This record gives sequence, C-alpha cells and structure tokens, in this order.
Amino acid sequence: MQPMQLICPVCSDLLELSNEGRTLRCISGHSFDRAKQGYWNLLLVQSKRSKDPGDNPEMVQARTRFLDSGFYQPVLQTLCETLDRLVPNPVAVADLGCGEGYYTSGLQQHRLAQGYADEILGLDISKHAVRAAARRSKEITWAVGSSARIPVADTSLDLVLIIFSKILSEPLERVLKPGATLLVAYPGPAHLMSLRELIYDEVRESESDPISQLSDAFTLEKTLGSPFEIELKGNQQISDLLAMTPHGQRMRESKREQLLSLESLVTEVDIRFAQIRYQPRPSDTDGARDCDIERQLENE
Ligand SMILES: C[S@@+](CC[C@H](N)C(=O)[O-])C[C@H]1O[C@@H](n2cnc3c(N)ncnc32)[C@H](O)[C@@H]1O
Ligand SMILES: [Zn+2]
Repeated sequence: MQPMQLICPVCSDLLELSNEGRTLRCISGHSFDRAKQGYWNLLLVQSKRSKDPGDNPEMVQARTRFLDSGFYQPVLQTLCETLDRLVPNPVAVADLGCGEGYYTSGLQQHRLAQGYADEILGLDISKHAVRAAARRSKEITWAVGSSARIPVADTSLDLVLIIFSKILSEPLERVLKPGATLLVAYPGPAHLMSLRELIYDEVRESESDPISQLSDAFTLEKTLGSPFEIELKGNQQISDLLAMTPHGQRMRESKREQLLSLESLVTEVDIRFAQIRYQPRPSDTDGARDCDIERQLENE
C-alpha cells in the first residue's frame, strides 16, 4: 500500500520521508515529526481559528462508542459498494473531516479484502479525532489539517469523501483529478425524525443540498442510500447520539433529562450520498486559445 503523497502546509512543496520514516521534510527544510500514535500534524498555528479546533475528546469518544456499536453499519456498506462500483482499481482517496476514522478504516479494510490497495488519507482538524483514528489502522495516512488547505498535491485525488463535514469548493478543485468523484454524505429529510420530534415542539423538514455549495465544475450524478431504523437502548447510547448531532447541543436541559430517562428509543436514520463528478470547464483563456486553434485549422 502506497502512503499518500503529502505537501508542506508552509510552502506547498512535496514532503518526503526522512529520519527512518519519523519526519516529513520539504525541499525548503520545513519539517514535521510523526506523532507517536502514527499521525502527522500539518495544521499550522496561524491556520487555526481556535486553540483546539474541531471535535473535542468527549465528542470523539461518544462517536467512537456509537459507531462501533454498528448503528450506522448500513451507511458504511453503501459507501463500500459505491466505491467498488465506481473505481474497480486501486485509487487515491481522501476522507475530509474523517473524525475518529470509522468510515475511513472500514472502507480501507473492505477495499483490501476486495484486492484494492488504495492510497488513503484521513484528514481532520481535530487532533483528538485523528489521534483516535490512528488507532484504527496503520495502513492509512492520518493527518491533522483543514479541508480549507488539503495537504495533498494538485490534481492527485481520484476520489474524495465528505461525510457530515464541511464542503469547500475551491480547495477540492485544486486536489481532484479531472473526472474524479466526490461522495458527500448528508442528512435526508427523515434523518433522526423521531428523535427530533422529541426534542423540538415543531420539526422542520429540511434536506441539505451539497451540490449548491459547489461550483459548476461539479455535477450531481446520483443520490444513494435508503432510510432504516435503529433502536437505542439506555442512556449511554442516547447521550452518545445526542453528542454527535447539532440537536444535542441546541436542546434544553429539561428535554435532555427527559430523553436520557428513556429505556429505549427507536428512530430513523436517513443518510444520503451525493455522487458528484468533477469536470473542470476549460478556462476562458483556454477557450479562446481553442477557438484560435480551430480557426487556424479551418484556414489550413
Ligand atoms: C460531524 S463530524 C463527522 C466525522 C466523520 N466524518 C463521521 O461521519 O464519523 C465533523 C468532523 O469535521 C471536523 N472538522 C470541522 N471543521 C473542519 C475543517 N475545516 N477541516 C477538517 N475537518 C474539520 C470535526 O473535527 C469533526 O471531526
Ligand atoms: Zn515547506
């Protein structure tokens, strides 16, 4: 399995391994040591909006417990099947906002079992999340960094996953190969409906639309995924799910107590995948040049 080729967050030159694989160094001498847990910290202090950005340790632990209980396994399965259909060969993949790595490592294990040794990067702005992710697999390149400055070379990725995380068009356009695929997981209208009905007096039907956040170089090809139900038992599972959703942060304390006293909670999971193709349009100048060439050919 190839390690992902990373670039220097300071000067954007390629990073090469040195010091028996313990350090990444660029040609200008910027260097980054591997953390003892096996990940790279490529987030510069000046790129941080806060001292400790991204999910905090409690959120990371709640997500790990919840996902490892298998509640979202059908979502991982949809992801694996989609990848096998789209790319029946080894590819370079980045999971942006990978969190504690459940999907990244689940995908890597599945792909390896299918005989595909993909180059995989798991990137997240939270060092707590990446530290936890690094425990899941040594075959994945894990890095702390931002989706706003993806630390990989221009046009180097065949596939990018964004699962319940930030979508930023411009950085994606730099790193995707023309013809590459972007898979975005987002909540469908029925997502956690019964839970939301218990939290809010009035539940709004909302569906996010990932394509609206991207430039016209991206085209929606397909929407995948179908709703299913899960049953949470006891207050640990309920509080873990609340810690993973924005609803948990918004709700009143009295509602939280009411929910945590439930013996069980059945709710819908409606997670959709948008399969999006990236095909950059020729720039205006390229277009003008093409016209010139066509004119010249006509005149010959
Ligand atoms: C809702 S969680 C999803 C985690 C994972 N994809 C999953 O579904 O289990 C969103 C993740 O995005 C990360 N995040 C937030 N802003 C980010 C940024 N600018 N760049 C990279 N990751 C970011 C958070 O730290 C968090 O781990
Ligand atoms: Zn550098």
